[in-house]
Amino acid sequence: MTSQIPAGGASASSTTLPAASSEAAPRLDEKTMLAAYSRWAPIYDRVFGAVFEAGRRAAVDVINATSGRLLEVGVGTGLTLPRYGKQLSVTGIDLSPDMLAVAKKRVAEEKLGNVEALIEMDASRLAFPDASFDNVVVMYVITVVPHPDQVMAEVERVLKPGGEAIFVSHFASESGLFALVEEWLTPITKKLGWRPDFPISRILGRPGLETIEVKRLGFLGLFSVARLRRTGG
Ligand SMILES: C[S@@+](CC[C@H](N)C(=O)[O-])C[C@H]1O[C@@H](n2cnc3c(N)ncnc32)[C@H](O)[C@@H]1O
Repeated sequence: MTSQIPAGGASASSTTLPAASSEAAPRLDEKTMLAAYSRWAPIYDRVFGAVFEAGRRAAVDVINATSGRLLEVGVGTGLTLPRYGKQLSVTGIDLSPDMLAVAKKRVAEEKLGNVEALIEMDASRLAFPDASFDNVVVMYVITVVPHPDQVMAEVERVLKPGGEAIFVSHFASESGLFALVEEWLTPITKKLGWRPDFPISRILGRPGLETIEVKRLGFLGLFSVARLRRTGG
């Protein structure tokens, strides 16, 4: 079910990429996800723009010091797209056509010429050749996807050796204040499909992705940014 939505920017391409899988219909969990994000799409920026700001800023600071091809996995409504440096050639993918439609509109309105393409695609079945991207960013997505280990394998596969994968998300806390705040946030995070019990250890320790840095950010350190580097560079 891979199709492409042209980004609408000055240099947006509209090449159709090959399907990554022969499955015709989305799985049930994907259907639930698509229905949820279809409802969120029109109001997502207003509800979650500021809440997730610290993580976005941290990722952009790292990414804007790089150049080349950037993949944003789960680009959503494209809130971060206007902030990427013009030296980057950006591709965004997302499972939700409704979220992507908002991103496409943003790219067109803000004439974001460095956005190469916005593509409807499952992060666990990326339709890109190996080592296609210099860097990859995954913000508030890895704890939402039904198959996070497959997503990790795909991110590793499409990264060039030496390239960085930056993950921003809320990860499970073991105890104390963080656990209390999580409990308080659960009604909100459930609506986004997050798994509050998702530990950061699940994305660390892969032989192909060495950990450069992990730090907590934002209100009460609720979110974490993890910088991983593709080995072999
Ligand atoms: C919480 S939103 C985050 C959006 C954006 N990264 C941001 O910072 O605002 C999660 C996004 O992940 C997308 N998503 C969920 N499962 C996915 C999958 N399997 N493949 C690609 N995108 C997926 C959703 O459609 C949604 O746009």
